[in-house]
Order: sequence, then C-alpha cells, then structure tokens
Amino acid sequence: MIGIFDSGVGGLSVWKELYALMPEEDYTYFSDGAFCPYGPKPADIVCKRSVAITDFLLSKKASMIVVACNTATAASIGYLRSHYNIPFVGMEPAVKPAVMHSKSGVVGVLATAGTLKGQIYHKTLEDFASGIKVVEQVGTGLVELVENGNAASDEAYRLVSKYVRPMVEAGADNIVLGCTHYPFLMDAVRRAAGPGVEIVNPAPSVALQARRMLLCHSPKGRKGHSAFYSSSETSVMSGMVRFIAPDIGCSFSGNIVI
Ligand code: DGL
Repeated sequence: MIGIFDSGVGGLSVWKELYALMPEEDYTYFSDGAFCPYGPKPADIVCKRSVAITDFLLSKKASMIVVACNTATAASIGYLRSHYNIPFVGMEPAVKPAVMHSKSGVVGVLATAGTLKGQIYHKTLEDFASGIKVVEQVGTGLVELVENGNAASDEAYRLVSKYVRPMVEAGADNIVLGCTHYPFLMDAVRRAAGPGVEIVNPAPSVALQARRMLLCHSPKGRKGHSAFYSSSETSVMSGMVRFIAPDIGCSFSGNIVI
C-alpha cells in the first residue's frame, strides 16, 4: 500500500496522477485538515505533523510514502528519510522544467511561504536557475479556497489574478505551481496568465518517480482500493475524490486524532 499525505485536499492532485498511472495499487491518503494550512507555520511544527502522519500511515502498512505537499517536503523530508526505513517521494517546485522551457528567461513560482523559505527550493534555484529571473509569490489564501470547495469561485479568480498577473507582466512565460493545492485552481491560473504561458504542475512527474521507486508492484488488471482519512471532516475531500474517479473503490474516515 502506498501512503500519501498533505495538509489537506491538495495532495489529491498527486493521488489523481498516481491512481491514473497505477490503478492496481492500494492507497491510504491522510489529509491534515485540522492543522491546515501548513504554509505559514514554523518548519518544526510541520515536521512534527509529518512524523505523526508517517506513523499513522505505517500503522496502516504503507510500504512507501508520497509526501504530496511541497511545504511538508521542505520541512521534513530529510528527517523522514533518515529516521524511517521505507522510501519517501517528495514534492519540490518544478523550477528545472520551467527554466528548460522558458524562452523569455523569466519564470514565476507560486508557492507557500514555508516552501519558498526552504533549503530544497534554494538549492534548486542555485542548481537550475542561474541567469534566470525568478518571480516568487506566496499564494496567501489560495489553500483555504480549495479546502472550502471554492476553487471555481469569482473570489478564487480575483486572488489568482492578483498573484499571476505581475508574473506575466514581468515577462514570465512559465509559471510553476509550487503547492499541490494549486492544480485545483488551474482554470483560474490559465485564464489569468493568458495564452502563451506554460503552467507547470509537477504531479505527473512525481507519480512516475513513485512508480520507479515502488519495490513491490501489484498485478496489472487488479482494482486497487483507496482509503481516505482526515484530521477534520471529509465532505469536500469525498466530493473531490468522486469527481476525479467516479468508479473508484474507496472509504472515508474523518476527525482522526493523531
Ligand atoms: N499543499 C501544500 C503544499 O504543497 C500545503 C499548503 C498549505 O497547507 O499551506 O505546499
């Protein structure tokens, strides 16, 4: 079974790609809704939550964990890899492909404060973005819109435009979605960015990486089961799961205290 976690429903953008690639696997997803958002919280708090959730996923027999959260990856992936004896796949803003595809030499990165402060992101900039202008923006308020089921609202479009338009006006031709909640705002981001701007979502590459790292694969043709847990209630999450995969075999359990 593959464990997945995020501060909330954002990691479903990663689960969606994993499920599309490996429908035969079983998944256990943990949404830490009671502690969402992670973005503005200190890294040590986010790391403690990542450890508690990892223990929970291990108690459900996870053989690999996908940290489907850029902020939790920034705060905890080093700790998790050095303290647990299973593979962890993390998220990081997809600066490398954005830089490779950019013709203007200007790239936008929309992410949480925790991710933009993290060492992983700064190392990525050092390694792949020298000579490139990177326009960073913290997406304050966007996670809450997705968590409340308001990703398609006018309010979401207004806030996304406020963050994305200055990137485009600075010349960005590639915009990196550096938070797993943001792919659920893709329509608003595309509309705000306008034609000719590439929106980069790292989730499909992360799913490929997870498939490469999975040690034991389930037989093709098998129908996997997904169990969804949350430290808050699950109504938005279950609506999103049923929209993404109407025929899936799944279960939901809310208000889990860990
Ligand atoms: N979805 C998360 C990320 O990728 C966390 C966002 C948050 O809770 O602030 O960063």
